[in-house]
Amino acid sequence: MTLQQLVPVLTKEEIEKKITDIAEIISRDYAGKDLVLIGVLKGAFIFLSDLVRHLSIPAQIDFIRASSYGDTMSSSGTVTLTQPVRMDVRNKHLLLVEDIVDTGLTLSRMMDYFRSQGAASVKICAFIDKYERREANIPVDYTCHSTQEGFLVGYGLDYAENYRGLPGVYHLKM
Ligand code: IMP
Ligand code: MG
Repeated sequence: MTLQQLVPVLTKEEIEKKITDIAEIISRDYAGKDLVLIGVLKGAFIFLSDLVRHLSIPAQIDFIRASSYGDTMSSSGTVTLTQPVRMDVRNKHLLLVEDIVDTGLTLSRMMDYFRSQGAASVKICAFIDKYERREANIPVDYTCHSTQEGFLVGYGLDYAENYRGLPGVYHLKM
């Protein structure tokens, strides 16, 4: 087994503070609108559950699943929606909730999909915005943390399904 080193990036307390802040902005922006949070499985499950509990407005929730990674550290480039949403999203305001945006190909594919389903608006809320390898020109409307590069784990983010349960975020060094 290779030695894996975890370098701290965000503490539990820092995450809590950042989520409180963006939840306030989202609550203001979507006041009076039919908001649906669409969590991108699996990575966004912890972020979404914290985010929704900090909102001061009502929101519906659904999940979508896509795959492009397998157990590697970089995107295969081909994004497949392996589990579409069940809800009727027509005329709803959708906020796609992602753990981390890297190339942006996953969210770009999803934005096209939801627009074709007749959503009133589609925006992106990514816990982490990692911009160095961006390929798709997508707007990251809300984020808790921006970083240029590095493979991050914890708080829902995994490496080969490990580390999702860590309360903080770490840079994984191999
Ligand atoms: P994209 O399509 O390249 O933007 O890939 C986004 C997906 O890749 C994310 O939802 C994550 O599941 C995964 N991913 C990208 N970078 C990282 C990382 O640093 N740590 C963990 N997962 C990552
Ligand atoms: Mg993901």
